[in-house]
Amino acid sequence: MKILSGIQPSGQLHIGNYFGMMQTMISHMESSELYVFIVDLHALTSVHEGARLATGTLEAAADFLALGLDPDKCIFWVQSDVPEVCELTWVLSTLAPMGLIERCHSYKDKVAKGVGASHGLFSYPVLMAADILLYQANRVPVGKDQKQHLEVARDLAIKFNNQYGETFVVPEPAISETMATVPGIDGMKMSKSYGNTIPIFLDGKPLKKKVMAIETDATPVEDPKDPEKCNLYKIMQLFAAPSRMKEIHDLYVNGGAAYGYLKLELLDLLNDKFGEARKKKQEYLSDPAMLREILAKGAEKAREKAAVTLDLVRDRVGLKY
Ligand code: ADP
Ligand code: TRP
Repeated sequence: MKILSGIQPSGQLHIGNYFGMMQTMISHMESSELYVFIVDLHALTSVHEGARLATGTLEAAADFLALGLDPDKCIFWVQSDVPEVCELTWVLSTLAPMGLIERCHSYKDKVAKGVGASHGLFSYPVLMAADILLYQANRVPVGKDQKQHLEVARDLAIKFNNQYGETFVVPEPAISETMATVPGIDGMKMSKSYGNTIPIFLDGKPLKKKVMAIETDATPVEDPKDPEKCNLYKIMQLFAAPSRMKEIHDLYVNGGAAYGYLKLELLDLLNDKFGEARKKKQEYLSDPAMLREILAKGAEKAREKAAVTLDLVRDRVGLKY
């Protein structure tokens, strides 16, 4: 079973990324053939400062390693180090119906949020399909927001196979329903581009400020509250032990849940969960040469795999003469 997923190095990683994708990927390390990569070509659709993209890429690598990804137990690389993906993107583009790509809501959502309406942003799902099909991945763990992109990848795999003969594995999404969408501090989907995140590697006062800013309603402490409507409750659920969560649930339903105290409890839980990783991240960042070496080794392994698929594709479509 090949499991693959990527993440954009376009900002500080947050707990939505962690529960939506990173934790799942790291947990598959022992049991599967695992492909993890940093999608810098995708990030180019929104980051147009070279130094920021390059730093973000090394940071994203340090994040994964600090959280426990072992590069000897997976293939871990940077997308642009395997240029084969660009060629496959073009081949898939020639089969991708305009209507299919036009229906993708992430383009419209991103433009509405101020990302420049470029051709690259529009064809983002085709590059993502190439990412997945190039490595013949069976399963792709992602948050719910990526479901439509995975459908594009599946559609393109099927279309190619019908046109040219069996070539690509048709990938399955792996979206954990409980973790599908982690809410942000304002209750909308947590996203770097909404500015509503709790970053994994933030600590001290800036982290406290974020946690205290989680939006809650004005119901008095002693009044009953609906936990399912409370943003703070949903975030606590990701960190608190089930037995403690049951107590918190009762406080909501029966009255007595004090948001301020719960936020401080959440802050402790965040520090317990990520404290060790924060230290490790600093160690990795202090040695960028080592990070680059790890990524270069990963790219070498990824390129070998990519070359096999691309050779077959070139043959099938008639680029080998
Ligand atoms: P962002 O929306 O913050 O830019 P990305 O698009 O880089 O996040 O997402 C990286 C991975 O994290 C994807 O698999 C995505 O589905 C997942 N993810 C992002 N935000 C959330 C969230 N709020 N809840 C669950 N998963 C998420
Ligand atoms: N589009 C994904 C995101 O924004 C990142 C991504 C690019 C990806 N290529 C991928 C995820 C391939 C899974 C598989 O989160």
